[in-house]
Amino acid sequence: MSVLEVANLTVRYGAVEAVRNLSLTVGPGEAITLIGPNGAGKSSTLKGIVGLVGCSGSVHYQGQPLSQRTPEALAAKGLVMVPEKRELFVSMTVEDNLLLGAFTRYQRREKSIAQDLEWVYNLFPRLRERRWQLAGTMSGGEQQMLAIGRALMGRPKLLLLDEPSLGLAPLIVQEIFRILAELKAQGVPILLVEQNARMALKLADRGYVLEAGELVMEGRGQELLHDPRVIESYLGIRAQSQT
Ligand SMILES: Nc1ncnc2c1ncn2[C@@H]1O[C@H](COP(=O)(O)OP(=O)(O)OP(=O)(O)O)[C@@H](O)[C@H]1O
Ligand SMILES: [Mg+2]
Repeated sequence: MSVLEVANLTVRYGAVEAVRNLSLTVGPGEAITLIGPNGAGKSSTLKGIVGLVGCSGSVHYQGQPLSQRTPEALAAKGLVMVPEKRELFVSMTVEDNLLLGAFTRYQRREKSIAQDLEWVYNLFPRLRERRWQLAGTMSGGEQQMLAIGRALMGRPKLLLLDEPSLGLAPLIVQEIFRILAELKAQGVPILLVEQNARMALKLADRGYVLEAGELVMEGRGQELLHDPRVIESYLGIRAQSQT
């Protein structure tokens, strides 16, 4: 059974059809990437899945139609998104932001929250160092780590990420991808939207290429990484020597 099964998803903004008849799946333990140029409809796809924008088509999660798509209902089911804009609570500390990520679990009186805080601090030692710092004063890369850490505090059974590497320096990007690889190794299913196609495809089991709202290619991450069309459009001239 798929963790996520999206069929014929269409997202419209007035006259603009941002996503057209898109179908994709995420299997148990799979890391899936959705790549494509600016304006292709990647964020709209994620927003459609989590109900942030209206859409048609069907979305099944763990075999059930995702009918109620409020953030709380999704969090309770373990479906957590790290949005493109990080949406942190800037005037709260790093640790309070992390704890808020576990809010619905706290309401359910789950006992393992302290343990998970340790888990996240072990994944991101920088966040442990800065646990009392205000989130708004963290650097861009640190804020992205915090956004991912906060999502992890929800103990995701499916993690959706919208361009976690956006605007970050290469070393921080590597750090973010190291964490994603570790989550994948721990069996957390991931749907990753990225413009950094090379790193995303290296991480992913499978990938989908979206152009102007439509899927134009799909395949194993390694296959796409060596596909001439993908190399030409998304990986650039240096691709062959680097991959
Ligand atoms: N709220 C909105 N109202 C109107 N049009 C929108 C809205 N949000 C997105 N669009 C349009 O839908 C199309 C897809 O946008 P989307 O943000 O999904 O692209 P993307 O693939 O995530 O791009 P990027 O890589 O730049 O983040 C674009 O043409 C965009 O202008
Ligand atoms: Mg986007």
